[in-house]
Amino acid sequence: MCGIVAYVGHQEAYPVIIKGLKRLEYRGYDSAGIALINGGLNVVKKKGKVVNLEEYAENTNLNGHVGIGHTRWATHGIPSDANSHPHTSGDGTIALVHNGIIENYLTLKSDLEAKGHIFKSETDTEVLVHFIEDIRNQLKCDLEEAVRVALTRVVGAFAIAVITTNEPTVLVAARRGSPLAVGIGEGEFILASDITPIVEYTSKVIYPKDNEMVVVNGVDYKLVDLNNNVLEPYVKELDFELASIEKGGFEHFMLKEIMEQPRTFHDCLRGRVKADESIIKLGGIRDYIDDIRSARRIMIIACGTSYHAALVAKYLFEDLAGIPTDVDFASEFRYRKVVIDDQTVVLGISQSGETADTIVALEKAKAKGAKVLGICNVVGSSIARMTDAGIYTHVGVEIGVASTKAFTGQLAIIYMLALLIAKEKGNIDYTKYKYLVHELTQISSKIEEALKSSYSAVERVSAACKNASSMIYLGRGLNYPIALEGALKLKEITYIHAEGYPAAEMKHGPIALIDENMFVVFIAPKDKTYEKIVSNIQEVKSRSGKVIAIVTKGDRTISEMADYTIEIPETDKLFTPILNIIPLQLLAYQVAKLRDCNIDQPRNLAKSVTVE
Ligand code: F6R
Repeated sequence: MCGIVAYVGHQEAYPVIIKGLKRLEYRGYDSAGIALINGGLNVVKKKGKVVNLEEYAENTNLNGHVGIGHTRWATHGIPSDANSHPHTSGDGTIALVHNGIIENYLTLKSDLEAKGHIFKSETDTEVLVHFIEDIRNQLKCDLEEAVRVALTRVVGAFAIAVITTNEPTVLVAARRGSPLAVGIGEGEFILASDITPIVEYTSKVIYPKDNEMVVVNGVDYKLVDLNNNVLEPYVKELDFELASIEKGGFEHFMLKEIMEQPRTFHDCLRGRVKADESIIKLGGIRDYIDDIRSARRIMIIACGTSYHAALVAKYLFEDLAGIPTDVDFASEFRYRKVVIDDQTVVLGISQSGETADTIVALEKAKAKGAKVLGICNVVGSSIARMTDAGIYTHVGVEIGVASTKAFTGQLAIIYMLALLIAKEKGNIDYTKYKYLVHELTQISSKIEEALKSSYSAVERVSAACKNASSMIYLGRGLNYPIALEGALKLKEITYIHAEGYPAAEMKHGPIALIDENMFVVFIAPKDKTYEKIVSNIQEVKSRSGKVIAIVTKGDRTISEMADYTIEIPETDKLFTPILNIIPLQLLAYQVAKLRDCNIDQPRNLAKSVTVE
């Protein structure tokens, strides 16, 4: 949802910023731009991807050691050159990049227009840079003070970086609600929306909190709040491998991330599950185990793929631990009257830890007195910091916009948590608990097996359904969320319309859609609803629908009925969701490839949704 990068230091700023923007492109790719200080202000910006900007800027003399850059996910105003960042002040001396939304921009804009300011774009960001200019002119102050005063008057979310020709070695950056990391190198500073543009240059990073500003002046920097108090920065040492943000020989990040899942799933369990002693330890929430065990209710809040993981969690927390559990979309939760109290444990699930709806919903739950816990992937993210305690998924950076390894990582945490609470509550027979813990530790090698065994079957299915205009995904119980997730993956990257339903709901409406052109994906493990699913398959077949069935290895009954069968390895029925999602991720990927879609950067999407 827009990425920002800024550089001050001994190197040429342009290559550092361009490389950084490429790393942040998953956050939005509607346009890109860079501003550098070299005597005057040199601004280049272009609609489209960073590579368009690079081509456009090829013959431009872009030198300078201080600069800012931006990759945009459009909110206010269409993707266009004019709406691209950086935006500049009316007198052309200040340039600014912004991730977030200035909510009171219309009021500010009309005040500024009344004073004679003329705007060239439709963006809220251009209003902010004119507002800073206006304050600087009024107060006759430096950039730092003008930005500080402006930010005390704006409503909304922002991570900004600002430079000015009047103070050519100064960079001012600030955040509220949107992420910002500040890399402290040897004689250089790299600021960005996440650490991926930074790690190449330094391992020392500061994460400013809401309403904090970083002011860099040449080789010095300071951290201040909006009341002008100088703060002591906490400099974190990063432990990060550069290889984790490269494609590593894969054609797309999404494929790399799908293929990484045997390892990432294992990494989630590592140090947390000891199969030989049947011990599960979740250090991050150690002090909250009693609260969960005695909770009257668990409320889970999430969006998108993380919401689908939450639906699996509901099933497990109720089935294994016997705790009533509700799941809500963060965007719905925050606007309705919710009945929660200090006996409710609220769990936020988010890969990025920056999803605006989830953040606001968790804040609401906190204000109502609930214990608020988090499951996040991005270390140090806003949700990780704002929750009382949490568990990291540790699947590494996820760059493909369609979430894959983060989802199975979330499931890994959810299974561990459900088993741990079930045992602590005495809700599960110890022999069964031991058996399930052991089974859980076998899942990463079964994911590997599923990847290998399903690959060619998925290729055949993809070739058959690549021109479908709509598909239906059906599953029951624990695998209903997997039907939703499979359909979401297909929609996101292939643009084929797809819907997930509980299989038994088909007869209550969606069956009207079945004809010889409709592909129906059945998730059909051997569990207590198996016979019912077999009947649902018959119903689709007798209406000439095309059946793609995800079945347990060796299943003959369904294989004989279905048009296409994809086998997954045998496991306890409780763990089938983790294996069933694997061929569905591959299916979306293969279909998108055959349709020549932009797999890692699907249209209209961005990796982290930091606007509400
Ligand atoms: C789907 C996808 C999105 C995210 C959703 C929540 O592939 O990536 O649906 O799951 O935007 O994001 P997080 O988990 O970062 O809160």
